[in-house]
Amino acid sequence: MTAYYLTTPIFYVNAQPHLGHAYSAVVADAVCRYQRLLGKDVRFQTGTDEHGDKIVQAAADAEVSVKEYVDKISAMFKAAWPVLSIVPDTFVRTTDPAHMGVVQGILQQVYDRGDIYFSEYTGLYCKGCEQFLTEKELKDGKCPDHLTEPERISEQNYFFRMSKYQEWLIDHITNHPEFITPERYRNEALSFLKEPLEDLCISRPTTRLTWGIPLPFDSRFVTYVWFDALINYLSGLGYPAGENFARYWPVAEHVIAKDILKPHAIYWPTMLKAMGLEPYKRLHVHGYWNMNETKMSKSLGNVVRPGELVTEFGADSVRYFLLREMSFGLDAGFSKEALMARHNSDLTNDLGNLFSRSLTMVKNFAASVVPQPGTPSAQDRELADAALAMLTQYREHLDHFAFHRALAAVWEVISRANKYIVSTQPWELAKDPQQATQLSTVLYTLLETLRLITLTLHPIMPETAAKMAEALGVTGENNLTDCGMWGRLMPGKAITPGAQLFPRLQQEAKDKPQPQKTKAMKEPSTEEAPAPEADGLVTFDAFQNLELRVAEIIAAEKIAKSDRLLKLTVKAPEERTIVAGIAQHYQPEELVGRQVIIVANLKPAKLMGVASHGMVLAAKDGDRLILSALSGPVAPGSRVA
Ligand code: MSP
Repeated sequence: MTAYYLTTPIFYVNAQPHLGHAYSAVVADAVCRYQRLLGKDVRFQTGTDEHGDKIVQAAADAEVSVKEYVDKISAMFKAAWPVLSIVPDTFVRTTDPAHMGVVQGILQQVYDRGDIYFSEYTGLYCKGCEQFLTEKELKDGKCPDHLTEPERISEQNYFFRMSKYQEWLIDHITNHPEFITPERYRNEALSFLKEPLEDLCISRPTTRLTWGIPLPFDSRFVTYVWFDALINYLSGLGYPAGENFARYWPVAEHVIAKDILKPHAIYWPTMLKAMGLEPYKRLHVHGYWNMNETKMSKSLGNVVRPGELVTEFGADSVRYFLLREMSFGLDAGFSKEALMARHNSDLTNDLGNLFSRSLTMVKNFAASVVPQPGTPSAQDRELADAALAMLTQYREHLDHFAFHRALAAVWEVISRANKYIVSTQPWELAKDPQQATQLSTVLYTLLETLRLITLTLHPIMPETAAKMAEALGVTGENNLTDCGMWGRLMPGKAITPGAQLFPRLQQEAKDKPQPQKTKAMKEPSTEEAPAPEADGLVTFDAFQNLELRVAEIIAAEKIAKSDRLLKLTVKAPEERTIVAGIAQHYQPEELVGRQVIIVANLKPAKLMGVASHGMVLAAKDGDRLILSALSGPVAPGSRVA
């Protein structure tokens, strides 16, 4: 079995986990799950970075011992990941004796080879970065990440001969286009290397810092935190002995954000070279989650806690949002409104409705078993081809960490499948026994499309995909290579229409988009309302008081204990609930996606306990009731005049 090894950065324990940290871990978890779907033997590693000035400072601020402090925060990181369904195989702590031993072994080896020497250095040191910065890296004299002025420090220290490997590194990056991705970061690394590389100061005198790994060859010094931290990627594999190192190191890949590009693109490969090891295979660099244009970070005090979002939205919804909303490599802005919008629109409306409509139809029209399909029509084939093409695109994008593209491709098929339901009208086919085979083919096409969609969702939304797989009766059948073809669902097999995948979430009243205030929105008072003329005609004013709008039905469900009423969720353009007395004429699943005309300014009324905000227009023709419609698609909310 091919091996795959992916790591996140190990996070500093000077702060509790926030959404920025969580993003790196979600990315790594999703990719590891994806690689498992490809049948690989995957090892996923994360951990905590526990040495250095910053940690000592944070413990002092918290008025606890450093050990107590690091234990507590490290445990918080460990506990935060399962809440987001992030399941690492190894969790390295740099204060573990095993890790410390590996770091000392490497220091000794590099020292013995002559690549570590003793000297004096004066430079600009940023405490936040725990790095010396060059004048060029400063912005207005300040560290661009921490917005603080670095201190000028001069001291005797040990240095790693990084400069010796500069030419080798330039060649390596140039000859391996995928070594650092996306390309902008490869270019950034190459541009660092245009300047002569300075040697790297890898020690701190114990007079200044004791919370670190003692240098094995000089106990007056501890190891610089980056030299210590980067080695976690090896110590977690049991380096230098052990099978895991031999198996996984040759395929190692790292996920980081752009803040730590330099240590990973420059220090780390040259350190590996000095140890006589091959560099990692690929470095995947992402951008920042921002809050109002500023990086989310503890030091700026603008963080979002992933646990709180999970409580409100569910783990899968948060994972989906993170992966869908950010173009890997670029920055993205976080807002709860955007998360709410993705949740309600992409998950509840698009995916949730497709799933529940399709399964309900299989329940109602095919006795909850996979029907035997007939010869597919051009329309059936079109959806099947689109689903298969999507799978190819999805793999291509995930191989390159382009999650937003992969998900856009999946959602394109979801949207096609929803349209396919509207145009094939299975509920009409079900009325005519002559069309039974056609109905079976349509239902089969929908189930297979859903099965392929489910496959793609395992890495992104593991709980949802598991629910979908269970309903479709394909639990455990999730190898992308084996299952990524058309026609795997066996006719006759039972399916279980299940619970709703995603609850629709209500925005808090203050965040709700307010419908545009127009004259007609005013509830006409009895005094104001012009009375009908004696001839039965209404005045233009009376008509104008009625606000007719186009509404798109985005969800429909039966109302318990009523055989007449359906609860509709419509977009007009704001979301609202309308209770309509059409249950005897329409199935909920045939309504989603339709555009109808509504009276938008009707006084709200409660029907069977559900508040209705408006009325849907329909024509009565004898016993039949036909919903109003438009002859072409219209932006929801458009006025009908
Ligand atoms: N301990 C070092 C990494 C050592 S790796 C050998 C460190 N730790 S950190 O806690 O500061 O985490 C930095 C990483 O957290 C970033 O590289 C990124 O993966 C993640 N993020 C922290 N804030 C972030 C955002 N606002 N946005 C996106 N990712 C962010 O650096």
